[in-house]
Amino acid sequence: MEIRIFETEAGVDKAAADYVAARITEKKGFVLGLPTGGTPEGMYAKLVDKVNKGELSFKGITTFNLDEYAGYKGDEPQAYLRFMKEHLFDHVDIEEGAYNVPNMSGDTTEKEATYGYENKIAGKGGIDLMVLGMGGNGHIGFNEPGTPFGLGVHRVELTEKTRQDNSRFFASIDDVPTAAITMGIRSIMNCRSLIMIVKGSAKAKVLAQALSGPVTEDIPASVLQLHPQAIIFADKEAASCL
Ligand code: GLP
Repeated sequence: MEIRIFETEAGVDKAAADYVAARITEKKGFVLGLPTGGTPEGMYAKLVDKVNKGELSFKGITTFNLDEYAGYKGDEPQAYLRFMKEHLFDHVDIEEGAYNVPNMSGDTTEKEATYGYENKIAGKGGIDLMVLGMGGNGHIGFNEPGTPFGLGVHRVELTEKTRQDNSRFFASIDDVPTAAITMGIRSIMNCRSLIMIVKGSAKAKVLAQALSGPVTEDIPASVLQLHPQAIIFADKEAASCL
């Protein structure tokens, strides 16, 4: 595992965007895994810039998002599909149908939402590069502490901590969904390479536990220690306890 530390958040955004941009041009039909949250917003803005300047194209790229709130259709203000459209998909030349976000709304059964998504990823040959953020309790995707490492795409009940953390995007905590569909740790570890972006002092302690402590299901991000191709992009505040 490699750790790259940057002076500022903007430094992390630029480095992560440069890295992703270089990787997705590596081969035809590149498959990219994507996160939501405040952390990757800056990286997405920089990727959009590159496309606007004609330096980068998403044509031929397929993307798979990590997670989505259960029951969301995708157009709700806090839906991860909507977030992705607002921050990336609507501003780049990605082809219609080439981006995927888990969906368990309407008549979609849990099985379709989970195994169906997993099969779709497998059908594209698996994910070449997964970009991750990390939650305040060390979760990745929506794999909360204690989630067995062996799970693929699954439905999860969200912890109070995660609902509190994410309540800043909602009118009140009561509006935060209680469940989500997420790629599991097995799905994440199956990706051929990974980067995880972490910013801010609030995540410093848990980042140190994840990277230097034991690999444990209590801190889901600690599993990255076992991945042969993982790079951490952190600002110096997030890295301050390393
Ligand atoms: C949510 C997402 C995660 C994300 C985390 C951190 O829980 N499911 O994929 O990494 O939030 O969010 P932020 O980057 O806003 O701290």
